[in-house]
Amino acid sequence: MARQLFGRIAPRYDLANRLLSGGLDILWRRSAAREVAPASGENVLDLCTGTGDLARALLHASGGTATVHGADFCLPMLHVSRAKHARAGEPAHLVAADGLALPYRDGIFDVTIASFGVRSFADLAAGVREMARVTRPGGRVAILEFSTPAPGLFRQLYLFYLERVLPLVGDLVSASPGTYAYLPGTVLEFPSQPELAKLMGECGLHDVRFRNLTLGVAALHVGLRS
Ligand SMILES: C[S@@+](CC[C@H](N)C(=O)[O-])C[C@H]1O[C@@H](n2cnc3c(N)ncnc32)[C@H](O)[C@@H]1O
Repeated sequence: MARQLFGRIAPRYDLANRLLSGGLDILWRRSAAREVAPASGENVLDLCTGTGDLARALLHASGGTATVHGADFCLPMLHVSRAKHARAGEPAHLVAADGLALPYRDGIFDVTIASFGVRSFADLAAGVREMARVTRPGGRVAILEFSTPAPGLFRQLYLFYLERVLPLVGDLVSASPGTYAYLPGTVLEFPSQPELAKLMGECGLHDVRFRNLTLGVAALHVGLRS
């Protein structure tokens, strides 16, 4: 179901992102890439890579010296990503795979990260355990996700935007009626920042920290593989 939904929005996914976030999504991914700081020669997995924007930000953050792999279970998303990498003349190591059962050996990545993807996992804990499994001991595991700002006026404005404006604009841009209606529910049901940090700590990671982006509209969690 989720796979088909992502397939429908893939062709205009980037445009929708830019419009719906006012371009903030680019800054959030860039910030996440800087935080995990892929070093020269490191092996990096961008899980739920979608159209590849985080993979590209990770490659740039390493000055082009890391090897960045992208995995996603939606082929139309991977096609957009492959074309984008090719246009930019960048290497693409893309794999069609389910985040809950990755086709990688234990501990082969120095960094495993997912942006705006784990929210859709049928089993979030199983997905985080799988991210930890493919990461080497001491490696970084990061999750960039939508979150919910603390109670107050900004949160009220944000919820109005999320529940009333975003589904309408998203459907218009993606030319796929009803498709963006899924988004508010997945954001509101997703664990709070401390809850996600706790879950990551229970799934094979330690020293988990998080920081809010844009007053908590999104949050970046990073932990180390035990
Ligand atoms: C909202 S998009 C985010 C894409 C990209 N990471 C970004 O920052 O724009 C979510 C992506 O996660 C992928 N996805 C969701 N559940 C998945 C799963 N179980 N396994 C692999 N990919 C998954 C979808 O196919 C989609 O491409």
